[in-house]
Amino acid sequence: MNVAGTHYRTIWLKADNPSVVQIIDQRRLPHKFVIMDLTTVEATAAAIQDMTVRGAGLIGATAGYGMYLAALEAPRTSAEAFLKFLAEAGDQLKATRPTAVNLAWAVDRQLDAIRAGEDLHAMVAIARDTAGQIADEDADFCRRIGEHGLALIEAIAKRKPGEPVHILTHCNAGWLAFVDYGSATAPIYAAFDRGIPVHVWVDETRPRNQGARLTAWELGQHGVPHTVIADNVGGHLMQHGMVDVCIVGSDRTTYTGDVANKIGTYLKALAAKDNDVPFYVALPSSTFDWTIRDGLHEIPIEQRHAEEVKYMDGRTASGSIETVLLTPEASPVANYGFDVTPARLVTGLITERGICKPSEDDILHLYPEKRAVSGVR
Ligand code: MRU
Repeated sequence: MNVAGTHYRTIWLKADNPSVVQIIDQRRLPHKFVIMDLTTVEATAAAIQDMTVRGAGLIGATAGYGMYLAALEAPRTSAEAFLKFLAEAGDQLKATRPTAVNLAWAVDRQLDAIRAGEDLHAMVAIARDTAGQIADEDADFCRRIGEHGLALIEAIAKRKPGEPVHILTHCNAGWLAFVDYGSATAPIYAAFDRGIPVHVWVDETRPRNQGARLTAWELGQHGVPHTVIADNVGGHLMQHGMVDVCIVGSDRTTYTGDVANKIGTYLKALAAKDNDVPFYVALPSSTFDWTIRDGLHEIPIEQRHAEEVKYMDGRTASGSIETVLLTPEASPVANYGFDVTPARLVTGLITERGICKPSEDDILHLYPEKRAVSGVR
């Protein structure tokens, strides 16, 4: 994606020092574009935990690079000591955020690949290559999600010539949530780049405001027309025919089609169902959990600090970034990070292999090799 005319990914190895991983500090957006260095697995875990980087795909890619940094840090006294350090590093990374399955998927992929190395030197090289592969694959899968999702937007555009296609999205399943393109935004960027008129309703997405801060910023960088709305507005827009389609992302999707996504997604899906607005979920296959059948009861839902609800930061008229208290100081707060939208409320899943219905049969038809995976009955 472009930032002031320059192409960026969200994570990369420093050009003149490949033992440094570079990321964009998403806590500073949209007011400041700051690139940050990561050199240890501990710093990588902290960056995932405090949401310096966030979003399912990017969390996975960052964990992949975190395992590479762990391989650089690990003791070289014996293969046993080296692999023990890596296993502990993997556990440390996995513990940072429980809902997005891409995190565990990337750590396990690294561990499987590294263990196959012939010696320690080879294992470090494998860790670096695998981190690069995870990132490249994420970008490629999102590009392909864009191609498949484009057909949906094209079909709507044909039905209303000369008018923009209005798309509602929640949170940030954009370029910043992945390595490039995004999942929910990939079809939007593909349509915009082909000259199809689109307009995006951007849910602000309390409490961290990923929509208002991040989705709005990246759409603006690309020149995509958009309007930020408070989280409560979507239902009203749908009742008045002002939304043609909802496209959201996912942090974990069961092989039966239940979708965990940023808190509030479920309410948008209910409103969409009531108003016959198609509700699509865009995700790469790294976001499927092939072991879980019942999303509502089996997907772990992250609960985060009360401070995220009680306080908000923003830029003042003088240009400084200030934090303000929103609630009575003593009021207790609950901060659930995600909710589960049951498959029955989802029109379709847009994946890198095509669009399918959110059902076990259709998902496994697209991914037949997963029939053999434990958990799939
Ligand atoms: O808590 P976050 O910001 O890491 O949440 C992830 C998200 O941005 C959303 O839930 C998104 O829609 C899916 S991640 C591609």
